[in-house]
Amino acid sequence: MIATTEEDFKNLRAGGKVLAGVLADTLAQVRNGVATAELDLFAEHAIRARGGIPSFLHYQPEGAAYPYPAALCVSINSEVVHGIPRAERVIKEGDIVSLDLGLSYNGYFLDAARTMFLGTADDQARLLIDGTKEALAAALGATRIGGHVGDIGDAIVRIARARNLGVVEELGGHAVGRAVHERPFIANDGKQGEGEVIVSGMVLAIEPMLAEGKGAVVVAEDEWTYIMKDGKRAAHFEDTVIVTEKGIEILTR
Ligand code: MF3
Ligand code: CO
Repeated sequence: MIATTEEDFKNLRAGGKVLAGVLADTLAQVRNGVATAELDLFAEHAIRARGGIPSFLHYQPEGAAYPYPAALCVSINSEVVHGIPRAERVIKEGDIVSLDLGLSYNGYFLDAARTMFLGTADDQARLLIDGTKEALAAALGATRIGGHVGDIGDAIVRIARARNLGVVEELGGHAVGRAVHERPFIANDGKQGEGEVIVSGMVLAIEPMLAEGKGAVVVAEDEWTYIMKDGKRAAHFEDTVIVTEKGIEILTR
């Protein structure tokens, strides 16, 4: 969406605060032996308790085999995104855990993701997680009125290259605000100056996904979970922002 009214800004800010709070609280629930389904229930209840509606639950984009069955995505190690929470899927020390969560708040949609290491990270995991966080910062820094959405991917690719990490293929960010996904798609392997022009008020979900190995992904048997083809680990950070004349405003922190 293009945010224009005071009403738009007010609701997007409020929804962003709720999402940031719930995501932080859910991350704090990650511990050795926790089932991913437990994290999902926690997140769903926390969203509803704060006046939001989980937006991933029952979401069925074109081409999806069946609606997404949970509020939260929990993707572990070589899983990149859209990991479906399950009662029998248990997190253990040494796992890289990515949580991706979305909600609607008074009809306004926001999206955010964080990756953490459970325990003491090995050097390569640290590099992967910090590099992906750095890629998000660079991507946010490249988002400006009059620029192109390709500038965002270009910034991500530069960080990945400098850190010897792979950029996950096929996936990327997107506009958001009035639906889970809106156009334009923001390729994480974009090129500077390519793609749609960024205009004032655009609400964007920017979400670099980087990998220890190469960027190729496969979709799991559950038809939702994206997994690195080479089995190496991946990380994912995402924030929703409004692009304004004064720069970007990050909503989900
Ligand atoms: N944040 C996710 C994305 O942008 C949204 C996932 S929707 C779900 O792709 F239904 F897959 F959970
Ligand atoms: Co998203």
